[in-house]
Amino acid sequence: MISEEKIVEALKEVEDPKLHRNLVELGLIEKMEIAGDTVKLQVTLTVPTYPMKDKIEEDIVGRLKRFGEVKEVKVNFTTMPPQKSQSLIESLSKGSEEKESRISKIKNVIAVASGKGGVGKSTVTANLAAALAKRGHRVGVLDADVYGFSIPTLLGIKETPTAIDGRMNPPEKFGIKIISIGFFVSQDTAIIWRGPLLHKAITQFIEEVEWGELDYLLIDLPPGTGDVSISIAQKLPGASVLVVTTPQKLATSVASRIGSLAEKTGLKLLGVVENMSYFLSPEGKRYEIFGTGGGQLLAGALRAPLFCQIPLEMSLRRDSDQGIPAVFSENAQMAKAVFEELASRVEEAMSKK
Ligand SMILES: Nc1ncnc2c1ncn2[C@@H]1O[C@H](COP(=O)(O)OP(=O)(O)O)[C@@H](O)[C@H]1O
Ligand SMILES: [Mg+2]
Repeated sequence: MISEEKIVEALKEVEDPKLHRNLVELGLIEKMEIAGDTVKLQVTLTVPTYPMKDKIEEDIVGRLKRFGEVKEVKVNFTTMPPQKSQSLIESLSKGSEEKESRISKIKNVIAVASGKGGVGKSTVTANLAAALAKRGHRVGVLDADVYGFSIPTLLGIKETPTAIDGRMNPPEKFGIKIISIGFFVSQDTAIIWRGPLLHKAITQFIEEVEWGELDYLLIDLPPGTGDVSISIAQKLPGASVLVVTTPQKLATSVASRIGSLAEKTGLKLLGVVENMSYFLSPEGKRYEIFGTGGGQLLAGALRAPLFCQIPLEMSLRRDSDQGIPAVFSENAQMAKAVFEELASRVEEAMSKK
């Protein structure tokens, strides 16, 4: 028999066509009964002559029948007392709710983490973002690495955000909306940002930027497991973490740190990316410059899949310095194939979430 949690998760995908929020968030599900393969729901609507009633019913039934365990769905509608619907609608137009709705327009948040700097975390973030955008997704990148922001360089972006009516509009490149802590401060200033200040900055980037509708928001975290990661976890429960490592086996201690952070803060571990895995000489000889096995070991320790192994490729480094992602380049052919593969693995993992 299907669980109540699974149904609630599914109903979060059904929107009230007028209020543009999901039924669960709006508290419109009054009753739920599961008996064998039949699900009975009582849904309360804001107005009696609801033109979109059929649409909601169709959406609910369609969504729940995607579960093999559900054969029949019965939806019963009631109407809210006018006072209640009035106050619901009023509360929706309040400022804080507005911020929340901005976040709720972001379907998937993936924080990209690493135990230490220099492993290619930003390279992976920028290139995964580009690969997802190329596959037709709406993508944003938030560069939260206060110790070494590099996303503007990697994506070759020179514009800074524009502010309209106190709202920040992120500049766009390769169809990716980009906000970097580097747009606002110099490298020297950023490094001293700690604790509350950092928390506030990240909060603003998430809440006050006009991200619009996004399928994926990728966050380039600072290396290690510090304040920023916790800020993000608190702001965005339900975010996933992608961990980048090199093949060096030193990775295990890092793994347990990231693992316990994820557990504590409720972030989900999505998978592991091994970067700088090997180098192929022009003659096709393979050199394992940074050793082997680190990605597999880390994936095992975190009980997450190893998504891909990215070779060292000179043209990837060159393109990165020039702000061209591999999937939009004619040069880094190996990296291009791996990032396309990574994007499809991520897509698949997020769809099962
Ligand atoms: N697979 C790769 N092949 C070649 N150069 C790479 C690769 N991955 C990263 N680099 C280069 O290594 C350097 C560090 O990568 P970066 O993404 O900035 O690391 P991090 O964000 O983890 O500090 C950059 O100059 C980048 O271009
Ligand atoms: Mg970086």
